[in-house]
Amino acid sequence: MTLRLLPLYCLVAASFANANSLKEAYQKDFAVGVAVSPDDVADPARQELIKKQFNSLSFENVLKWEVVQPNEGEFNFELADKIVDFAKANGMTLTGHTFVWHSQTPDWVFGGPDGKPASRELLLERLRRHIQTIMTRYKGVISTWDVANELASDEDGKSPYRQSRWIEVLGSEVVAKAFEFAHEADPAATLLYNDYGIEAGPKHERAMQILKDLSKAKAPISGIGLQSHISIFYPPVPEIEKSIRNFARLGLQVHITELDMSVYPGFDEEKRNLYPDSCPPNLLKQQADRYRELFRMFRRNKSHIARVTFWNVHDGVSWLNQFPVPNRRNHPLLWNSDLQPKPAYEAVLSAASK
Ligand code: GLA
Repeated sequence: MTLRLLPLYCLVAASFANANSLKEAYQKDFAVGVAVSPDDVADPARQELIKKQFNSLSFENVLKWEVVQPNEGEFNFELADKIVDFAKANGMTLTGHTFVWHSQTPDWVFGGPDGKPASRELLLERLRRHIQTIMTRYKGVISTWDVANELASDEDGKSPYRQSRWIEVLGSEVVAKAFEFAHEADPAATLLYNDYGIEAGPKHERAMQILKDLSKAKAPISGIGLQSHISIFYPPVPEIEKSIRNFARLGLQVHITELDMSVYPGFDEEKRNLYPDSCPPNLLKQQADRYRELFRMFRRNKSHIARVTFWNVHDGVSWLNQFPVPNRRNHPLLWNSDLQPKPAYEAVLSAASK
């Protein structure tokens, strides 16, 4: 019996080794996703690439507060629906992004009557209504949500929390409240706290503190989103691995939510546009080696990792071409702007079979 099964087993093992897409290569390990815009899912070439390679989509911008509720009570789902329809037609899971965030949230949210700031009650009620309206609409369709984004402070200080308007008015309790509202709207949804720079260093500790506060408040949180906007220089993969294990020890699922790998040091240490036409081969190799090391580590930790999502489809549409240095071309993803696979793509595929 065992012997008769062997050839089938070999065939399956061989098909992973020779997988010609990310989703096949990692199908036994974790979902592989990408953040998209409505333009991405309308463009034939990008559509093909997305369908072939990924089994999960995140909303790059169109579920952010400024798009979905630009004025009080005026909900706009048209753009998000384009992504939802594409995902449904292609059997992909969806991650919604995001509710409590200091950025891309319109001023009216924080304003009260007579030009005064919104009261605590008013702001909480707006948050509740926003979350519940959106999550009710997409119940059973969008299965995972980045409920709170980037709450950890970038600075050393007494509080681990960023001093945003949310925190000023509602205190750190706003985070637990957002999770409660989300859980009420869709008890089956996977609810994440999402942040950047928490893969290593002092922000890792701040995020751990925020998660411990959430646990104390008995917030219905399912997991942590590590944005993972990293560079080819930093942080070291063993540091990222340590962080993943620390988060998992809190009983949380780990989602890698916004992965890309800048070819520049730091975020804005180098302001010159060094590689305006293409990325030099030595850097492409360095990037490929590091992506390989990273994905091998993800596989070692697959029992903790539910999903790895890239932020944008190819180098030509990466947000890093505009941020933090406008019009500085970056080359952070697996496909170049002609949609040709880079050495990093082969490296990520090969990491799945070794
Ligand atoms: C952060 C946010 C995302 C997006 C990226 C840059 O990581 O979470 O929504 O704005 O920055 O595109």
